[in-house]
Amino acid sequence: MASERDTVPRTTTAIDAVPTQLAESLRAMPVLEDNVDRVGNPEAVVPKERMADPVPAEGAGGVFSQSWFPICLASEVESGTIQGFDFLDGRVVVWRTEDGVAHVTSAFCPHMGASLEAGDVVGSHVRCAFHHWEYGGDGRCAKTAIGDPPPPSACLFVFPSIERYGVIWAFNGTKPLYDVPVFPFPSEDLLIKTIVLPDLMPVDPWVQCCNTPDIQHIKTLHRISFDEEASNMQWTDHSMTYEFEGFFDSGSRASWEVGVFGTSLYYQSAYLEGRWFGFMVPMGLVRPGMTRNYMVLAVQKSGDAESDRDFLEQCLLTEVGIVGEDTHIMTSMHFRPGTLTKSDRTLGHYFKFLREYPRAHPSAPFIT
Ligand code: FES
Ligand SMILES: [Fe+2]
Repeated sequence: MASERDTVPRTTTAIDAVPTQLAESLRAMPVLEDNVDRVGNPEAVVPKERMADPVPAEGAGGVFSQSWFPICLASEVESGTIQGFDFLDGRVVVWRTEDGVAHVTSAFCPHMGASLEAGDVVGSHVRCAFHHWEYGGDGRCAKTAIGDPPPPSACLFVFPSIERYGVIWAFNGTKPLYDVPVFPFPSEDLLIKTIVLPDLMPVDPWVQCCNTPDIQHIKTLHRISFDEEASNMQWTDHSMTYEFEGFFDSGSRASWEVGVFGTSLYYQSAYLEGRWFGFMVPMGLVRPGMTRNYMVLAVQKSGDAESDRDFLEQCLLTEVGIVGEDTHIMTSMHFRPGTLTKSDRTLGHYFKFLREYPRAHPSAPFIT
């Protein structure tokens, strides 16, 4: 016997409920023309576990490598101004006094924790926006606004810092263990261009530094042919450099001195078709596992400003192209020091360098 429900005419169906655009795209999807059954693997392949020691990630155990890190472009902080930046696992401020000197200090005011990036620069002091306490370049509270004597313990953490090649750098440590390298020509003889790349890289800076001792990838990913094996390999406690000559796949001839300083800087002094240019990639540690890349390009001034500029732009585009080849690797890789071959011996040495690299975090109580 028909129920009352069967007798009620239905005005819509489930098909009618599918949005038209979705229905069209589903109809456009192909049917299987030649359906086949194939076995990929009948059983799982379970590799032997890799035995290589890990390299400590930045921030593991609450410490970071003691390296020079770029904090910002020098042009981002004008005289008499202050800016805040993420660094390590916290926040720092860069403030530039009227005399042009840039200071890198902890961001948070020792009085009640207001961030100084909301404050301003007054003469040679940075002034907190909240109760107007003022701090000098030595980090100490120079005065309060209300007339109370400044507490002797009220002090910012002051990072060792320098400004070089258009970058403000800070050292993670109480005393720099090495210097930010310089190009082999005086700055006044160089035309320099410094940029910051727009996208953060989701790896620690030292993962990118592994590119330099990774000679396999220079030949495969970057397609650079070597005349002979890399030579003049130099290792210190805080750097490694080596030299090689060869060709880009475009046919351009080049010779390179390349290196890594600390865990955060690629350095290159090279000749392209016989003309020198310098290149650095300072790598900022925005937070654990996240890097902001800068690029410094330098060419010698020849007296022909237009030609110098053209050569500078040619070198910049060449390097942006090479770094771009690494980018889609770096943005998707899950780094692990694993199975190496004979060609990886320099890379293996760098892993050892990284494992033994000094780590600390003296600013931890102040920037977090
Ligand atoms: S919180 Fe900075 S002066 Fe009070
Ligand atoms: Fe590379």
